[in-house]
Amino acid sequence: MQQTHKRTILMTSALPYANGPIHLGHLVEYIQTDIWARFQRLRGHEAYYVCADDAHGTPIMLRAQLEGISPDELVAKMTLLHQADFADFAIHFDNYYSTHSPENRHFAEHIYCGLRDKGHIERRLIRQAFDPIKQMFLPDRFIRGECPKCGAKDQYGDNCEVCGATYLPTELKNPVSAISGATPIDKESEHLFVKLGDFEEMLKQWMNNGSLQPAVIHKLSEWFEAGLQSWDISRDAPYFGFEIPDAPNKYFYVWLDAPIGYLASFKNLCDRNGLDFDHFWKPDSTAEVYHFIGKDIIYFHALFWPALLFGGDFRKPTAIFAHGFLTVDGQKMSKSRGTFITARSYLNHLNPEYLRYYFAAKLASGIDDIDLNLEDFSNRVNADLVGKVVNIASRCAGFITKNFAGQLASELHKPDLFEQFISKGEEIAQDYENRDYSKAVREIMALADKANQYIDEFKPWVIAKQAGQEHLLQSVCTQGLNLFNVMMGYLQPILPVMAQKVELFLNSPITWQPQPLLSHQIATFQPLMMRLDSKQLDAMLNENKPLTPVEEKPKKAAKKVEVPAFEPIKENIDVDLFGKIDLRVARIVEANLVEGADKLLQLTLDVGEGKTRNVFAGIKSAYSDPSVLKDRHVVMVANLAPRQMKFGLSEGMVLAAGDGKGGLFLVSPDSGAQAGNRVK
Ligand code: 2FM
Ligand code: ZN
Repeated sequence: MQQTHKRTILMTSALPYANGPIHLGHLVEYIQTDIWARFQRLRGHEAYYVCADDAHGTPIMLRAQLEGISPDELVAKMTLLHQADFADFAIHFDNYYSTHSPENRHFAEHIYCGLRDKGHIERRLIRQAFDPIKQMFLPDRFIRGECPKCGAKDQYGDNCEVCGATYLPTELKNPVSAISGATPIDKESEHLFVKLGDFEEMLKQWMNNGSLQPAVIHKLSEWFEAGLQSWDISRDAPYFGFEIPDAPNKYFYVWLDAPIGYLASFKNLCDRNGLDFDHFWKPDSTAEVYHFIGKDIIYFHALFWPALLFGGDFRKPTAIFAHGFLTVDGQKMSKSRGTFITARSYLNHLNPEYLRYYFAAKLASGIDDIDLNLEDFSNRVNADLVGKVVNIASRCAGFITKNFAGQLASELHKPDLFEQFISKGEEIAQDYENRDYSKAVREIMALADKANQYIDEFKPWVIAKQAGQEHLLQSVCTQGLNLFNVMMGYLQPILPVMAQKVELFLNSPITWQPQPLLSHQIATFQPLMMRLDSKQLDAMLNENKPLTPVEEKPKKAAKKVEVPAFEPIKENIDVDLFGKIDLRVARIVEANLVEGADKLLQLTLDVGEGKTRNVFAGIKSAYSDPSVLKDRHVVMVANLAPRQMKFGLSEGMVLAAGDGKGGLFLVSPDSGAQAGNRVK
């Protein structure tokens, strides 16, 4: 059932800096936003998604100097690369623009003048480090020196990477400019500030209007408690940015005009497409405006941005949606490990929809970090997308093409089952709406399991061999393909490229909760998605590894492992003894860390017929994030005598392969196997 109220929605993602490539960390957000935008459009709403390159600031100015080009040329070059990366990840922007644009200059000046005229700007002298050779003030990141706490050499002007201390640049010992090597001098200059304290009441009201995430509210409350400081919005020349109208040689700080870039990009879209900008941005607008951001830039969006909007007489955002950071295999992305993966190098080896699916399967509405566990990534893609979803279509399509010249039956075999799939739509829609994509994915995969069970039960490959059962064969396969069609409607926001292929195959547009396709001609089935081969992952990691290892902090020497990779095969046992081992498929219902245990995870296993078993398994080294194991099918020894362990009773054992070097690999059946199935 489609919602009747048509919403008008504008959404944005944070604007990437124009001096670096897009990497997988960035993509969490663009994929998250793109899924939401596609979902809203699929549900019939008017939704726009805009973004831009964040073009201004000292690092971009210096990088351009280094390359011997102008900042405009650098931005023009980088934006093409960024846009190609986004397009290849199927991230669709209604407009992708630049903060170095006439519209942005206009809005930045308009907002600044509004704030100034309402008395919210103050000027005061500040002292700062100045490079006497380059004749410029130095941002903290461009001053290096010895840590005032531990004495470590060559540390940044604001924090020490060795001892973690934070300090003022003036506290660094023997400071030098990272640009010229000169010793900075202390110099005074007048700066312009937004008096943020003036907006405290307004910001508190906005915070309490119920649309911010609890974690964002928590941070805001802390900042209110600490007291709101005035915000320095000016930088002295030379600076790549917009000159401040009534302050010659002073420029707007990049973070002032960056969020204003949301307005500028949208205005540019409106002017080109005849949309009404004011309808979205006037103070009493009924349109919805959402900013998707990383948790590190909440301060800018939840405090500064509403204040800037107030200055320009614009409405405030409906909500800000913050997300966590990306880790790879449980650790910060690292160049030396090859896990600082750029979008382009991923695309050189892997299908972008694998990542869209994996991120969706991990994303929820909070600001928790999400982990790209490479083994889990490959398992999920192969088991869920290829093994479950595509499998439904490939198991039915051939019969329709071969036996019925591509014609679907005139009625469904099980209309009730089709209705069950349709009726799940509202719940799944709510999950998408709440940005709880992981829950939506779980529900869609439960439907995929159901569809596969249905096909297993009616076995078209058996019916096909039975004389006089043509009608049944056609309606069973028609049923399977229609279930697949409903699921693809639910998956379209996550897998738009595969959805397009399915449109060609089913000869019908993908929609949310479609009518059944009956007496309908379909095209010949083409493979919709290939299995992920671990060699592709290895190749990608290798491509990202530096040629000479990057220096890393010394680690404790790894304990040498003496076990050979392949242990010799043990003596024979007879078939009767083997027959006594009851191997069963089990589904991991829950996997938890065990307090006080270095190696163990506690597993709750569904062993079929509604029964569960508690098992302690020594697999923590391979699955430090046990949540990745949820719903995975494994093989267990079901008749191992229960053992009382320090942490509780263990009622079986799960099978895992070991490579002798510490690597552990859980054994899983092919997709379709059910908890309780006997392993023969
Ligand atoms: O943190 C960043 O990468 C910034 N370039 C984000 C800017 S978001 C918005 F305010 F423009
Ligand atoms: Zn230090």
